[in-house]
Amino acid sequence: MFPTNLPSPISLLGLSLLPVLTTALQLPNYTNIITSNTNPAVLDVTFHVANTTINLWNSGLVSDLKDLVSRLQNDNDTKVVVFRSDVPKYWIAHADLNFDIDNPTIVTDSIYLINNMTNLQQTTIGAVSGVVRGGGNEFLVSLDMRFASKPHTLLGQPEVGLGIIPGLGGIQFLARLIGRGRAMEYVLSDNDINAADAERIGWINKAFDTDEEMEGYVCGLTKRLALFDGEAIKAGRTAVNVATTPDVEDLLEDERVFIELYRKPSVQARTKLGTLDDNDGERFFGEALPLLYAGAAAGTGASRRRSVRYGM
Ligand SMILES: *[C@@H]1O[C@H](CO)[C@@H](O)[C@H](O)[C@H]1NC(C)=O
Ligand SMILES: *[C@@H]1O[C@H](CO)[C@@H](O)[C@H](O)[C@H]1NC(C)=O
Ligand SMILES: *[C@@H]1O[C@H](CO)[C@@H](O)[C@H](O)[C@H]1NC(C)=O
Ligand SMILES: *[C@@H]1O[C@H](CO)[C@@H](O)[C@H](O)[C@H]1NC(C)=O
Repeated sequence: MFPTNLPSPISLLGLSLLPVLTTALQLPNYTNIITSNTNPAVLDVTFHVANTTINLWNSGLVSDLKDLVSRLQNDNDTKVVVFRSDVPKYWIAHADLNFDIDNPTIVTDSIYLINNMTNLQQTTIGAVSGVVRGGGNEFLVSLDMRFASKPHTLLGQPEVGLGIIPGLGGIQFLARLIGRGRAMEYVLSDNDINAADAERIGWINKAFDTDEEMEGYVCGLTKRLALFDGEAIKAGRTAVNVATTPDVEDLLEDERVFIELYRKPSVQARTKLGTLDDNDGERFFGEALPLLYAGAAAGTGASRRRSVRYGM
């Protein structure tokens, strides 16, 4: 449909009254994210999760994002939200598995947060330079678009190797992005994927040789989106969502299965091997995961043993 010469009463009303009615997005200082909206149409959100060196998806981060999303739900000025990390080599390493299994609020909240985000009027973009696994990747794949730079990016869902499944509903988004065969391969094998391959199979939109190239591209895209009507952006993403967004019931079913499996003593033993104490161990977790099945006394070197501990 193309504009006619005569604007409808609704768009006349919108054009004449919106600037008077809207107020710029007011945000508090958060603990786990840094926000900046120098251009009122573009909100930049940077993950910097307190007390973690690798940006864990934890209750503090979810609480900040819930607050942010509740404000975006009532904001007509912001048209695009870009998520980044300022932690070198990590976007969001994975979810913090150290939660009360009898009261898994963080899991349920994450699912409703993701569901609320798919229904926002703003479009959402992930700009990635670093490791994104587990719950971090589940959040990433629920965003509207993903871009990544090649040097430090590794994506993965290392749950099945631990005896669980991704619990935030991310499988439902990933399977829609990369298709059944690829989703089966990566969800079941837990193999990491790099940015170039992730671009090739549709896990991310585009891979770049450097962070600067990625930022240039994302900046061009957000500038372009900032020109357009917020209402039209919302309508466009709603239409795409009809074809591509899973039902929240399916996300909640993934949570149920995740919790059921996570209760098993064998799974608890496998996931509670200790506290991760070096970042490199986290970086190569996908590759090292099979070592969990080699037995603790199998004579692997100390650094290799560290590398199979899943940050708890
Ligand atoms: C945002 O836009 C909607 C639809 O045009 C309108 O109903 C609502 O009042 C606006 N909200 C604000 C805070 O201006
Ligand atoms: C956030 O922190 C800055 C200084 O770090 C301060 O100037 C500002 O008033 C704070 N904003 C809010 C909403 O608390
Ligand atoms: C971070 O750790 C410090 C010291 O243990 C604690 O006082 C603070 O509350 C923690 N912050 C968060 C957001 O968990
Ligand atoms: C999702 O949005 C609804 C309002 O639309 C709100 O009541 C609910 O608390 C939000 N949930 C989360 C987890 O952000």
